[in-house]
Parts: sequence; C-alpha cells; structure tokens
Amino acid sequence: MTNALSGRAALITGAGGEIGRAISLALAAEGAAVALGEVNLAAAEGAATEIRDRGGRAIALAMDVASAEGVTAAVRVAVTELGGLDILVNNAGLCPLNRFEDIPLGEWNRVLAVNLTGAFLCSQAALPHLKQSKHGRIINIASIAGRTGGIAVGAHYSASKAGLIGLNKVLARTLAPFGVTANCVAPGTMEGGMTASWAQEVRENLRRSVPLGRLGQASDVAAAVVYLASDAAAWITGATLDVNGGTVMA
Ligand SMILES: NC(=O)c1ccc[n+]([C@@H]2O[C@H](COP(=O)([O-])OP(=O)(O)OC[C@H]3O[C@@H](n4cnc5c(N)ncnc54)[C@H](O)[C@@H]3O)[C@@H](O)[C@H]2O)c1
Repeated sequence: MTNALSGRAALITGAGGEIGRAISLALAAEGAAVALGEVNLAAAEGAATEIRDRGGRAIALAMDVASAEGVTAAVRVAVTELGGLDILVNNAGLCPLNRFEDIPLGEWNRVLAVNLTGAFLCSQAALPHLKQSKHGRIINIASIAGRTGGIAVGAHYSASKAGLIGLNKVLARTLAPFGVTANCVAPGTMEGGMTASWAQEVRENLRRSVPLGRLGQASDVAAAVVYLASDAAAWITGATLDVNGGTVMA
C-alpha cells in the first residue's frame, strides 16, 4: 500500500456486499476515510468494523440509493463525519434473473431505480462537495452486461448498466470544468456477490468463456477503483474500464 488516498474521503454505496466491501477496504487501506452506505446496515457495520480494526477510518450509513431524501441525508452525514467528500463510488445494485417476458413492471422499475436512478441521485447530492475537492472522483460500477446485453441476467439489469455507462459520459463532460472525473468499471462475472447463488453449470460455462480462465474476484474490481480514484488517473474521464479477464474486448 502506498497511502495514495491519504486525506481523501469516500462514500461507497452497497458497501456491505461482496464488491462494495472489497472497494471500501481497498480505499481505506490506501488511507481514505470511508462512509459505507447500505440498505443492509448490519453488513455495512461489519465491514466498517473490519476497517477500523485494521487502523482505518470508517462509518456505516443506512441508505437506500433509490430514495432522494435518504440519499441527501446520507451524503450530509458522510460529509459532516468525514469532513468533506472527494470520491463517490456508485456500487449498489440489484440483479434479478427473470426472463424478459416474465419481468413484472414493478421489478423493472425497482432495478432501474437502484442501479441507475440511484447513481444519478448520489452523484447529484455529492456534486457540490466533489466540486470543492481538488481530487473529485465519481466511479460507477457498471457491468459487462451493459456492454453486451447480458446472457444470464435480466433485461432490466442490462438496460440499467448500459444507462449507467451513458450517464457516466454525461457526468464526465459536465464535471470536467471542475476537475472532477467520472469513470465506470465494468466487471465481468465474479466468483461471489450477486452471482454466488447462480447454478454451478451456468457459472462453469461463463468461466470457460473467460480467456484468462477464471471468474473475477472482488479484489480485481477494487484495484481498478483504487487506480481510478488515485492521482495517477487524473487525466482519465468518461472511460469504462473492463475488468473481465478478456471476455469482452471493446
Ligand atoms: N457479482 C458480479 O458478478 C458482478 C458483475 C458485474 C457487475 N457487478 C456489479 O457490482 C456491484 C456490486 O455487486 P455485488 O456482486 O457485490 O453484489 P452484492 O449483492 O453482494 O452487493 C450489492 C449490495 O448492494 C446493496 N443494495 C441493494 N439495494 C440497495 C439500495 N437500494 N441502496 C443501497 N444499497 C443497496 C445490497 O444490500 C448489497 O449489499 C453491483 O452494481 C453489480 O451490478 C457485479
């Protein structure tokens, strides 16, 4: 570790899940103070405790990214507790597997609300604080499904992630004059997290399609996020970084 993010404050949504937890730990290990936003507060508290046990600075926040009021309140607490906000990681997500013809409208709306509108709301609420930072960063966790149209995942999930990649480009253009960058990380299929419950046969077929021969680890995604948050990535904006073992080369 290089303490590359010493003095920075980060808010990570969905931070109690597999990837969000790894991102939070990795940012904290580089010296960032982190706020872990979650609907599952117990999971966020577990990760925050682990960070503090390792000597880092972390708080857990109850937060539904699909609620405008909830997001505003959570960002306010994060800024107050951490003394500002430099890095926002839009990571919270849902991935139901219903086939296209079976998706109820309510489920479609909820997936879009969490995966896409959530990133919009969090980015909007974080914006005044990111503008004040000398190192403002938005990092959106998209998906290979937003690049290709997912095979195993639902249409709502793929559409939300494609939308996120589009939103990311708008954020990049809009925020560039303030020195704030916006980038996506697009993971391929991972070992854990929302794919952990998938049928073994489906996971094995997906694994065979990966040129590097394995599914992803949360640490693969976390390392990409740390890089995009760092000063080394200061001239990268509007990009989507594929972290997928070579499955898709855009
Ligand atoms: N696991 C994969 O294979 C994979 C692949 C590509 C992209 N991703 C993306 O990575 C991100 C993290 O996924 P994961 O695999 O860690 O899944 P996960 O299910 O382990 O974690 C997602 C977390 O988001 C939280 N969450 C759900 N709705 C929320 C809301 N409304 N407000 C706040 N938090 C909420 C959940 O409680 C959960 O802890 C997601 O955006 C997902 O789409 C995952």
